[in-house]
Amino acid sequence: MKTIQLCNRSIDVLKAYQAPTGAFPAAPDYPPYNYVWLRDGTFIARALDLVGEREGAAAFYRFASRTIVAHGFKVERALAAAACGRPIDDGSCLHTRYTLSGEEGREPWGNFQLDGYGTFLWGLAAHLQAGGPWEDIYRRAVDLVVRYLTGLWQHPCLDCWEEYGDYRHPSTLAAIYGGLKAILPWLEDESRKTGFHDAGGEPEGEQNPGRMVLKVDDVLERLPELARSEFIRDGNWVKFAGQDAVDANLLWLGVPFGLCSLDDPVFTATVARIATELCSGGVKRYAADTYYGGGQWLLLTAWLAWYYRLRGEEAPARELLAWVEDRADNNGFLPEQVPENLTSEAHYHYWLERWGPIANPLLWSHAMYIISVRGMEV
Ligand code: BGC
Repeated sequence: MKTIQLCNRSIDVLKAYQAPTGAFPAAPDYPPYNYVWLRDGTFIARALDLVGEREGAAAFYRFASRTIVAHGFKVERALAAAACGRPIDDGSCLHTRYTLSGEEGREPWGNFQLDGYGTFLWGLAAHLQAGGPWEDIYRRAVDLVVRYLTGLWQHPCLDCWEEYGDYRHPSTLAAIYGGLKAILPWLEDESRKTGFHDAGGEPEGEQNPGRMVLKVDDVLERLPELARSEFIRDGNWVKFAGQDAVDANLLWLGVPFGLCSLDDPVFTATVARIATELCSGGVKRYAADTYYGGGQWLLLTAWLAWYYRLRGEEAPARELLAWVEDRADNNGFLPEQVPENLTSEAHYHYWLERWGPIANPLLWSHAMYIISVRGMEV
Protein backbone atom coordinates (compact mmCIF):
# COMPACT_ATOMS: atom_id res chain seq x y z
CA MET A 1 0.00 0.00 0.00
CA LYS A 2 1.12 3.56 -0.68
CA THR A 3 1.95 5.87 2.23
CA ILE A 4 -1.03 8.25 2.01
CA GLN A 5 -3.44 5.37 1.52
CA LEU A 6 -2.05 3.36 4.43
CA CYS A 7 -1.95 6.41 6.68
CA ASN A 8 -5.62 7.16 6.01
CA ARG A 9 -6.52 3.52 6.42
CA SER A 10 -4.65 3.43 9.73
CA ILE A 11 -6.56 6.46 11.04
CA ASP A 12 -9.84 4.77 10.05
CA VAL A 13 -8.82 1.50 11.74
CA LEU A 14 -7.98 3.28 15.01
CA LYS A 15 -11.24 5.23 14.99
CA ALA A 16 -13.37 2.27 13.98
CA TYR A 17 -12.20 0.11 16.87
CA GLN A 18 -12.39 2.71 19.63
CA ALA A 19 -14.99 1.49 22.15
CA PRO A 20 -17.81 3.83 23.25
CA THR A 21 -15.96 4.07 26.58
CA GLY A 22 -12.94 5.64 24.81
CA ALA A 23 -10.79 2.50 25.21
CA PHE A 24 -8.82 0.97 22.35
CA PRO A 25 -8.53 -2.84 22.31
CA ALA A 26 -4.92 -3.77 21.56
CA ALA A 27 -6.11 -6.17 18.83
CA PRO A 28 -9.89 -6.48 18.42
CA ASP A 29 -9.86 -9.86 16.62
CA TYR A 30 -7.31 -11.59 18.80
CA PRO A 31 -8.90 -12.71 22.08
CA PRO A 32 -5.83 -12.49 24.35
CA TYR A 33 -5.46 -8.82 23.33
CA ASN A 34 -9.07 -7.82 23.67
CA TYR A 35 -8.03 -5.49 26.45
CA VAL A 36 -6.76 -1.95 26.57
CA TRP A 37 -3.11 -1.50 27.55
CA LEU A 38 -2.06 1.95 28.73
CA ARG A 39 1.10 1.56 26.66
CA ASP A 40 -0.60 0.70 23.36
CA GLY A 41 -3.55 3.00 24.03
CA THR A 42 -1.40 6.05 24.68
CA PHE A 43 0.56 5.68 21.45
CA ILE A 44 -2.75 5.24 19.62
CA ALA A 45 -4.12 8.42 21.20
CA ARG A 46 -0.87 10.22 20.36
CA ALA A 47 -1.24 9.18 16.70
CA LEU A 48 -4.82 10.49 16.67
CA ASP A 49 -3.72 13.79 18.23
CA LEU A 50 -1.05 14.16 15.56
CA VAL A 51 -3.60 13.87 12.77
CA GLY A 52 -6.04 16.27 14.42
CA GLU A 53 -8.44 13.63 15.77
CA ARG A 54 -8.48 15.36 19.15
CA GLU A 55 -11.83 14.04 20.35
CA GLY A 56 -10.79 10.41 19.96
CA ALA A 57 -7.60 11.13 21.88
CA ALA A 58 -9.47 13.01 24.62
CA ALA A 59 -11.96 10.15 24.98
CA PHE A 60 -9.06 7.76 25.55
CA TYR A 61 -7.37 9.97 28.16
CA ARG A 62 -10.69 10.40 29.98
CA PHE A 63 -11.25 6.65 29.93
CA ALA A 64 -7.73 5.95 31.20
CA SER A 65 -8.03 8.63 33.89
CA ARG A 66 -11.39 7.34 35.13
CA THR A 67 -9.96 3.83 35.24
CA ILE A 68 -6.88 4.91 37.17
CA VAL A 69 -8.99 6.90 39.64
CA ALA A 70 -11.34 3.92 40.12
CA HIS A 71 -8.33 1.77 41.05
CA GLY A 72 -6.51 4.55 42.85
CA PHE A 73 -6.77 2.82 46.25
CA LYS A 74 -4.06 0.47 44.97
CA VAL A 75 -1.44 3.19 44.90
CA GLU A 76 -1.18 3.29 48.70
CA ARG A 77 -1.21 -0.52 48.81
CA ALA A 78 1.67 -0.75 46.37
CA LEU A 79 3.69 1.93 48.16
CA ALA A 80 3.07 0.20 51.50
CA ALA A 81 4.13 -3.20 50.10
CA ALA A 82 7.32 -1.69 48.66
CA ALA A 83 8.09 0.11 51.91
CA CYS A 84 8.09 -3.12 53.94
CA GLY A 85 9.71 -5.28 51.26
CA ARG A 86 6.60 -7.30 50.41
CA PRO A 87 6.13 -8.32 46.77
CA ILE A 88 3.91 -6.04 44.70
CA ASP A 89 1.28 -8.48 43.47
CA ASP A 90 -1.90 -8.22 41.41
CA GLY A 91 -3.85 -7.13 44.45
CA SER A 92 -1.59 -4.17 45.14
CA CYS A 93 -0.36 -2.88 41.77
CA LEU A 94 -2.10 -0.75 39.18
CA HIS A 95 -2.60 -3.23 36.35
CA THR A 96 -1.03 -2.89 32.95
CA ARG A 97 -4.25 -3.64 31.04
CA TYR A 98 -7.99 -3.35 31.63
CA THR A 99 -11.20 -4.49 29.96
CA LEU A 100 -12.78 -2.04 27.55
CA SER A 101 -15.09 -0.93 30.33
CA GLY A 102 -12.20 -0.27 32.70
CA GLU A 103 -12.12 -3.36 34.90
CA GLU A 104 -9.11 -5.47 35.77
CA GLY A 105 -8.74 -8.69 33.77
CA ARG A 106 -9.63 -11.89 35.61
CA GLU A 107 -7.24 -14.39 34.13
CA PRO A 108 -3.62 -14.50 35.29
CA TRP A 109 -1.37 -11.92 33.63
CA GLY A 110 1.91 -10.22 34.42
CA ASN A 111 0.29 -7.04 35.63
CA PHE A 112 3.06 -5.16 37.36
CA GLN A 113 4.58 -3.01 34.60
CA LEU A 114 5.44 0.64 35.22
CA ASP A 115 6.28 1.82 31.70
CA GLY A 116 2.64 2.23 30.58
CA TYR A 117 2.01 4.70 33.39
CA GLY A 118 4.99 6.82 32.37
CA THR A 119 3.86 6.62 28.75
CA PHE A 120 0.37 7.72 29.81
CA LEU A 121 1.76 10.89 31.45
CA TRP A 122 3.86 11.61 28.36
CA GLY A 123 0.90 11.22 25.97
CA LEU A 124 -1.48 13.18 28.17
CA ALA A 125 1.03 16.04 28.43
CA ALA A 126 1.34 16.12 24.62
CA HIS A 127 -2.45 16.18 24.37
CA LEU A 128 -2.65 19.10 26.81
CA GLN A 129 0.20 20.87 25.05
CA ALA A 130 -1.80 20.65 21.83
CA GLY A 131 -4.63 22.53 23.51
CA GLY A 132 -6.66 19.84 25.31
CA PRO A 133 -8.22 21.31 28.48
CA TRP A 134 -6.82 20.31 31.89
CA GLU A 135 -9.86 18.45 33.18
CA ASP A 136 -10.43 17.55 36.80
CA ILE A 137 -10.36 13.81 36.04
CA TYR A 138 -6.88 14.23 34.50
CA ARG A 139 -5.67 16.08 37.57
CA ARG A 140 -6.85 13.27 39.86
CA ALA A 141 -5.31 10.55 37.67
CA VAL A 142 -2.03 12.44 37.31
CA ASP A 143 -1.84 12.88 41.06
CA LEU A 144 -2.15 9.12 41.58
CA VAL A 145 0.24 8.15 38.81
CA VAL A 146 2.87 10.63 39.96
CA ARG A 147 2.69 9.25 43.51
CA TYR A 148 2.90 5.72 42.13
CA LEU A 149 5.88 6.34 39.86
CA THR A 150 7.87 8.57 42.18
CA GLY A 151 7.43 5.93 44.88
CA LEU A 152 8.21 2.85 42.80
CA TRP A 153 10.52 3.89 39.97
CA GLN A 154 13.47 1.94 41.37
CA HIS A 155 11.46 -1.24 41.86
CA PRO A 156 12.01 -4.20 39.45
CA CYS A 157 8.98 -4.93 37.28
CA LEU A 158 8.05 -6.61 34.02
CA ASP A 159 9.35 -4.78 30.96
CA CYS A 160 7.25 -3.51 28.07
CA TRP A 161 7.30 -7.02 26.55
CA GLU A 162 5.84 -8.29 29.82
CA GLU A 163 8.96 -10.31 30.63
CA TYR A 164 11.91 -10.41 33.06
CA GLY A 165 9.99 -9.10 36.04
CA ASP A 166 12.88 -9.58 38.47
CA TYR A 167 14.93 -6.88 36.76
CA ARG A 168 14.91 -3.16 36.20
CA HIS A 169 14.87 -2.07 32.57
CA PRO A 170 16.26 1.08 30.99
CA SER A 171 13.26 1.29 28.62
CA THR A 172 10.89 1.35 31.62
CA LEU A 173 13.00 3.98 33.36
CA ALA A 174 12.98 6.04 30.15
CA ALA A 175 9.17 5.93 30.00
CA ILE A 176 8.94 7.01 33.65
CA TYR A 177 11.45 9.79 33.07
CA GLY A 178 9.74 11.00 29.87
CA GLY A 179 6.31 10.94 31.52
CA LEU A 180 7.30 12.76 34.69
CA LYS A 181 9.29 15.36 32.79
CA ALA A 182 6.45 16.01 30.35
CA ILE A 183 3.77 16.44 33.02
CA LEU A 184 5.90 18.59 35.36
CA PRO A 185 4.71 21.97 33.97
CA TRP A 186 1.10 21.07 34.83
CA LEU A 187 2.10 20.06 38.34
CA GLU A 188 3.98 23.32 38.75
CA ASP A 189 0.95 25.18 37.58
CA GLU A 190 -1.24 23.36 40.11
CA SER A 191 1.27 24.14 42.79
CA ARG A 192 1.22 27.85 41.92
CA LYS A 193 -2.59 27.92 41.81
CA THR A 194 -3.04 26.27 45.18
CA GLY A 195 -0.21 28.20 46.73
CA PHE A 196 1.13 25.04 48.39
CA HIS A 197 4.84 24.62 48.64
CA ASP A 198 6.88 22.26 50.71
CA ALA A 199 5.84 23.64 54.07
CA GLY A 200 6.05 20.15 55.51
CA GLY A 201 2.76 20.24 57.36
CA GLU A 202 0.26 19.63 54.57
CA PRO A 203 -1.30 16.26 53.93
CA GLU A 204 0.31 13.90 51.40
CA GLY A 205 -0.99 13.52 47.89
CA GLU A 206 -3.75 15.36 46.08
CA GLN A 207 -3.77 18.34 48.37
CA ASN A 208 -0.10 19.01 48.02
CA PRO A 209 1.07 19.70 44.48
CA GLY A 210 4.12 21.55 45.81
CA ARG A 211 5.46 18.41 47.42
CA MET A 212 4.74 16.42 44.27
CA VAL A 213 6.81 18.86 42.24
CA LEU A 214 9.74 18.34 44.60
CA LYS A 215 9.41 14.56 44.35
CA VAL A 216 9.33 14.70 40.57
CA ASP A 217 12.37 17.01 40.48
CA ASP A 218 14.22 14.56 42.68
CA VAL A 219 13.46 11.57 40.42
CA LEU A 220 14.33 13.53 37.28
CA GLU A 221 17.68 14.30 38.82
CA ARG A 222 18.52 10.81 40.12
CA LEU A 223 17.06 8.54 37.45
CA PRO A 224 19.40 9.34 34.52
CA GLU A 225 22.44 8.84 36.74
CA LEU A 226 21.18 5.49 38.01
CA ALA A 227 20.30 4.36 34.48
CA ARG A 228 23.71 5.27 33.11
CA SER A 229 25.59 3.58 35.90
CA GLU A 230 23.55 0.38 35.71
CA PHE A 231 22.76 -0.22 32.05
CA ILE A 232 25.70 0.92 29.96
CA ARG A 233 28.13 -1.81 29.08
CA ASP A 234 31.09 -1.45 26.69
CA GLY A 235 29.78 1.84 25.34
CA ASN A 236 26.22 0.59 24.67
CA TRP A 237 22.91 0.59 26.48
CA VAL A 238 21.81 -2.98 27.29
CA LYS A 239 18.39 -4.60 27.80
CA PHE A 240 18.97 -5.06 31.54
CA ALA A 241 21.95 -5.31 33.89
CA GLY A 242 24.27 -8.30 34.05
CA GLN A 243 24.15 -9.24 30.34
CA ASP A 244 24.98 -7.43 27.14
CA ALA A 245 22.02 -8.06 24.81
CA VAL A 246 20.45 -5.14 23.02
CA ASP A 247 16.67 -4.70 22.73
CA ALA A 248 14.82 -2.57 20.19
CA ASN A 249 12.92 -0.96 23.07
CA LEU A 250 16.16 0.94 23.84
CA LEU A 251 15.07 3.28 21.03
CA TRP A 252 12.68 4.77 23.61
CA LEU A 253 15.61 6.26 25.50
CA GLY A 254 15.96 8.80 22.72
CA VAL A 255 12.59 8.72 20.97
CA PRO A 256 10.30 9.85 22.44
CA PHE A 257 11.29 9.86 26.11
CA GLY A 258 14.42 11.97 25.90
CA LEU A 259 16.52 10.21 28.53
CA CYS A 260 19.32 10.56 25.94
CA SER A 261 19.69 13.17 23.26
CA LEU A 262 19.51 11.75 19.73
CA ASP A 263 23.18 12.46 19.11
CA ASP A 264 24.46 11.07 22.40
CA PRO A 265 27.30 8.72 21.32
CA VAL A 266 26.22 5.85 23.59
CA PHE A 267 22.70 6.12 22.27
CA THR A 268 23.77 6.27 18.60
CA ALA A 269 26.08 3.27 19.16
CA THR A 270 23.11 1.40 20.64
CA VAL A 271 20.88 2.27 17.68
CA ALA A 272 23.63 1.08 15.35
CA ARG A 273 23.58 -2.26 17.20
CA ILE A 274 19.79 -2.44 16.87
CA ALA A 275 20.13 -1.75 13.13
CA THR A 276 22.79 -4.42 12.56
CA GLU A 277 21.76 -7.13 15.04
CA LEU A 278 17.97 -6.88 15.03
CA CYS A 279 17.00 -5.43 11.66
CA SER A 280 16.89 -7.34 8.40
CA GLY A 281 14.11 -5.62 6.53
CA GLY A 282 11.96 -5.38 9.69
CA VAL A 283 13.02 -5.14 13.34
CA LYS A 284 12.94 -7.89 15.98
CA ARG A 285 12.40 -7.18 19.68
CA TYR A 286 15.67 -8.87 20.75
CA ALA A 287 17.82 -11.68 19.41
CA ALA A 288 16.65 -14.40 21.80
CA ASP A 289 12.93 -13.61 21.47
CA THR A 290 10.78 -16.71 20.91
CA TYR A 291 7.24 -15.25 21.08
CA TYR A 292 5.67 -16.52 17.83
CA GLY A 293 9.17 -17.63 16.95
CA GLY A 294 10.67 -14.15 17.39
CA GLY A 295 9.57 -12.52 14.14
CA GLN A 296 9.85 -8.93 12.91
CA TRP A 297 7.64 -6.32 14.54
CA LEU A 298 5.95 -3.65 12.44
CA LEU A 299 5.71 -1.13 15.26
CA LEU A 300 9.44 -1.40 15.98
CA THR A 301 10.29 -1.04 12.30
CA ALA A 302 8.21 2.15 12.20
CA TRP A 303 9.91 3.22 15.45
CA LEU A 304 13.39 2.92 13.93
CA ALA A 305 12.13 4.87 10.90
CA TRP A 306 10.84 7.57 13.29
CA TYR A 307 14.31 7.86 14.80
CA TYR A 308 15.96 8.19 11.36
CA ARG A 309 13.43 10.81 10.30
CA LEU A 310 14.10 12.87 13.43
CA ARG A 311 17.81 12.64 12.61
CA GLY A 312 17.11 13.86 9.09
CA GLU A 313 18.06 10.52 7.53
CA GLU A 314 15.17 10.07 5.13
CA ALA A 315 16.64 7.26 2.98
CA PRO A 316 16.81 4.53 5.67
CA ALA A 317 13.52 5.79 7.12
CA ARG A 318 11.82 5.45 3.74
CA GLU A 319 13.17 1.93 3.31
CA LEU A 320 11.81 0.83 6.68
CA LEU A 321 8.41 2.42 6.10
CA ALA A 322 8.23 0.74 2.67
CA TRP A 323 8.89 -2.57 4.40
CA VAL A 324 5.94 -1.92 6.72
CA GLU A 325 3.72 -0.81 3.83
CA ASP A 326 4.47 -4.06 1.98
CA ARG A 327 3.19 -6.04 4.95
CA ALA A 328 -0.30 -4.52 5.03
CA ASP A 329 -2.87 -7.16 4.09
CA ASN A 330 -5.75 -6.75 1.63
CA ASN A 331 -7.83 -4.96 4.26
CA GLY A 332 -5.00 -2.54 4.93
CA PHE A 333 -4.44 -4.18 8.34
CA LEU A 334 -1.03 -4.23 10.00
CA PRO A 335 -0.20 -7.22 12.22
CA GLU A 336 1.90 -7.24 15.38
CA GLN A 337 4.74 -9.14 13.72
CA VAL A 338 5.47 -11.23 10.66
CA PRO A 339 7.09 -14.67 10.84
CA GLU A 340 10.15 -13.72 8.79
CA ASN A 341 13.72 -14.32 9.83
CA LEU A 342 12.49 -16.34 12.81
CA THR A 343 14.67 -17.16 15.77
CA SER A 344 12.80 -20.42 16.40
CA GLU A 345 10.41 -22.04 13.92
CA ALA A 346 9.27 -24.48 16.64
CA HIS A 347 8.13 -21.60 18.87
CA TYR A 348 6.22 -20.05 16.01
CA HIS A 349 4.13 -23.24 15.76
CA TYR A 350 3.84 -23.51 19.52
CA TRP A 351 2.23 -20.05 19.78
CA LEU A 352 0.10 -20.61 16.68
CA GLU A 353 -1.39 -23.66 18.34
CA ARG A 354 -1.71 -22.00 21.73
CA TRP A 355 -3.25 -18.61 20.84
CA GLY A 356 -4.03 -18.80 17.10
CA PRO A 357 -2.70 -16.62 14.26
CA ILE A 358 -0.62 -13.51 15.06
CA ALA A 359 -2.69 -10.50 16.19
CA ASN A 360 -3.96 -8.62 13.14
CA PRO A 361 -4.73 -5.78 13.09
CA LEU A 362 -2.63 -4.64 16.02
CA LEU A 363 -3.70 -1.07 16.68
CA TRP A 364 -0.31 -0.11 18.10
CA SER A 365 1.30 -1.08 14.74
CA HIS A 366 -1.05 1.34 12.96
CA ALA A 367 -0.32 4.02 15.54
CA MET A 368 3.46 3.75 15.21
CA TYR A 369 3.17 3.85 11.44
CA ILE A 370 1.15 7.09 11.63
CA ILE A 371 3.52 8.59 14.19
CA SER A 372 6.54 7.75 12.06
CA VAL A 373 4.99 9.24 8.93
CA ARG A 374 3.48 12.32 10.63
CA GLY A 375 5.26 12.72 13.93
CA MET A 376 8.19 15.02 13.35
CA GLU A 377 7.78 16.60 16.78
CA VAL A 378 8.68 14.20 19.58
C1 BGC B 1 3.49 -7.06 24.04
C2 BGC B 1 3.15 -5.79 24.78
C3 BGC B 1 1.84 -5.21 24.26
C4 BGC B 1 0.74 -6.26 24.26
C5 BGC B 1 -0.52 -5.76 23.57
C6 BGC B 1 2.32 -8.02 24.16
O1 BGC B 1 2.64 -9.18 23.49
O2 BGC B 1 4.64 -7.65 24.59
O3 BGC B 1 4.16 -4.86 24.58
O4 BGC B 1 1.48 -4.11 25.03
O5 BGC B 1 1.17 -7.40 23.59
O6 BGC B 1 -0.24 -5.30 22.28
